[in-house]
Amino acid sequence: MSEAIEVDIADLPGVGPATKAKLEAGGVTTILDLAASTMGELVDSLNIADETAHNLIFEAQKLLKEKGYLEKDLVSAQELFERRSKLLKCTTYSENLDNLLAGGIETQAVTEFYGEFGSGKTQICHTICVSAQRPVENKGLAGSVLYVDTESTFRPERIVQIAKAHEMDVDEVLNHIHVAKVYNSSHLELIVKALGTLIQQNNIKLVIVDSIISLHRAEFVGRGTLAERQQKLNGIMHRLKRVAEIYNIAVVITNQVQATPDTFFGDPTKAAGGNIIGHASTYRIYLRKAGQERKAIMIDSPCHPYGDTNFMVTDGGVTDPAEKKTTSFKSKPTEKKVGKNTSKDDDSE
Ligand code: GTP
Ligand code: MG
Repeated sequence: MSEAIEVDIADLPGVGPATKAKLEAGGVTTILDLAASTMGELVDSLNIADETAHNLIFEAQKLLKEKGYLEKDLVSAQELFERRSKLLKCTTYSENLDNLLAGGIETQAVTEFYGEFGSGKTQICHTICVSAQRPVENKGLAGSVLYVDTESTFRPERIVQIAKAHEMDVDEVLNHIHVAKVYNSSHLELIVKALGTLIQQNNIKLVIVDSIISLHRAEFVGRGTLAERQQKLNGIMHRLKRVAEIYNIAVVITNQVQATPDTFFGDPTKAAGGNIIGHASTYRIYLRKAGQERKAIMIDSPCHPYGDTNFMVTDGGVTDPAEKKTTSFKSKPTEKKVGKNTSKDDDSE
């Protein structure tokens, strides 16, 4: 699904050489890039009229629908079922966690891991950098990884340890991980905008953003800046979601927690970033320390039952605890104050 499309952007109705040059100058080089753009982005970066931007995106999406890259406007449930059965699922190297995720980390979706410091978010990210490179028949994605590191916590040494533990060729594994070190929120926005090109040029099958919110949280301080911050995060999240669908890749983001001091029962923490991140994430998993182990709780998913399970972080990356606990599914989340739509003041920090 993510192989290059043979159609040149200039072949779209209404795109002459001048528009093509403008688009390219604005970083939109392929039909896929154009289809993944929003009207606001095109209007801002290319200085064109709303209607022109709308038509360009419409024509690009129409073409992708005709070619089967994007879902048609109306599809039968049967077609959707077949399409979903072709999704790829990437192992986390923990059977427990894979079961919680109904097979592993899915392509065409955004999977969010959130939890307090040391809960294992970055360790999961490092582990899937390795497992994603396995062949599809071995529960990998058979492709490269883009690691967007906003907290400077990516450690190639950990990759070496994890790759060795799984008897993979260490040099090969390292060569297929592309790390983008990002130092401010505008830089993150730029990288996310350029994802289409990066994915196509490097056969990327997994994009990791660790973490999605730290830079925005640090730069947009105080209530007065909240609306602008949320708008920017919204743009990033929607782009990630569209990119996951269009390129059939997995997107994994990590998120921090914030305290909710008004909580009397249950866990007094919830995901940072408010509804914007919660709504745009397809799957949302809460991580927390549980002695030597880690607990993972499925907080939000359109198709998984609520459930929880345990995993471990070891020298070899994420793995199952020695005494394997089966994943337990419940009808309701156990964390009353965790997840989206649980707080009256959800977007506040
Ligand atoms: P923040 O980014 O600070 O919010 O936390 P995080 O959730 O990303 O934490 P991370 O995934 O980095 O987990 C850190 C924990 O993983 C450490 O406290 C250790 O318990 C464990 N860990 C990290 N590296 C190793 C290692 O090489 N060996 C073992 N056994 N455990 C490790
Ligand atoms: Mg981390």
